[in-house]
Amino acid sequence: MRIGLIGAGAVAPFHVAAAAELDGMELTAVCDIDEQTGRRAASGTGAAVFDDHRRMLDAGVVDAVIVNTPHSLHLPITEDAATAGVHVMVEKPMATTVADCDRMIAACDAAGVTLTVGHIQHYMPEKVAAERIIASGELGAVRMIRDNRSTDYRPGTRSPWFFSPEIAGGGALINIGGHCLDRSLWLGGGRAVEMLASTVNRFGSPVETDGAILLRLDNGVGVSIAVVSDPATRADTMAIVCDDGVIEVDPRRGTIVQIDGRSRVVHESAPGDIQRAFTAQLADFAAVIGGADPTVSVAHARHVVELVLAAYRSSAEGSALSLLPQGIVA
Ligand SMILES: NC(=O)c1ccc[n+]([C@@H]2O[C@H](COP(=O)([O-])OP(=O)(O)OC[C@H]3O[C@@H](n4cnc5c(N)ncnc54)[C@H](O)[C@@H]3O)[C@@H](O)[C@H]2O)c1
Repeated sequence: MRIGLIGAGAVAPFHVAAAAELDGMELTAVCDIDEQTGRRAASGTGAAVFDDHRRMLDAGVVDAVIVNTPHSLHLPITEDAATAGVHVMVEKPMATTVADCDRMIAACDAAGVTLTVGHIQHYMPEKVAAERIIASGELGAVRMIRDNRSTDYRPGTRSPWFFSPEIAGGGALINIGGHCLDRSLWLGGGRAVEMLASTVNRFGSPVETDGAILLRLDNGVGVSIAVVSDPATRADTMAIVCDDGVIEVDPRRGTIVQIDGRSRVVHESAPGDIQRAFTAQLADFAAVIGGADPTVSVAHARHVVELVLAAYRSSAEGSALSLLPQGIVA
């Protein structure tokens, strides 16, 4: 499979290394509107460098692309790739609106190409270990999840487009909160049916820098998510409360099960876990192109976008929302 990377910024090295590690896959093209950035990402790979994704698609050098650009570009670039008959793995969040998600799904369906969304949490070894414990039934049913993430939305700490509501679609919640929604829905095992959210804009930021979301899933699981910018203590922790024990998940430590006062480590985090996740994610994309079922459905990725936007609405209106399968009502 000849793969092209579109958008060669901060996350590019993980995608480039993933392609290099996989048999049967070759990174043949890298595209960035900033040619130097593209060259840097491509160096040592032999990939051709482009500064326009349409020219890259027209060159006929790729069978599949990773769309790794600012969020509002996920739609038009996915549509262009689909039109060119090229499979797409798009970075999270899938898009900035639900309508854009639907257009991406329609474009790829019409062209007969695969579309997957890079929800990396599903491949992180400590989350996979938690999922395995839940699936084993040892702890009984999941009842509640607390998901706690720090980030840094002080202006200057990341590319300027992350602070544009039009380009990024929002701030800390669409970017980092999306990871929390994704993994909490996945490990909670349901769709969200109720939400109450609040957001905070600090540092003079035009997008939210912090946010809190309460969810009830359709299986009764309660989820609380908090994303906090620039706290003294960095956090990326989940506590998954089950009938017969609690699973704690933290990429810096691993996965720990607590039953009746005793703890057991079921996964110990190791250097290279993040790269392993990116490589597994790309391998999964290739498998889906080959006909396998996706690990992360596009319906799930679309639901994450739907929930982020619902969180903005809940926060703006200061009220809880009911989230029915056919749409969101106050
Ligand atoms: N999976 C993860 O853990 C993870 C982590 C961080 C970011 N992301 C996601 O990855 C994507 C990229 O984020 P980033 O942090 O690398 O951003 P970034 O700002 O570091 O890089 C984006 C790159 O896209 C380029 N670009 C802009 N418009 C382009 C176009 N039309 N064609 C080609 N290139 C274009 C920019 O020049 C820049 O180099 C986003 O969707 C982001 O949310 C995922």
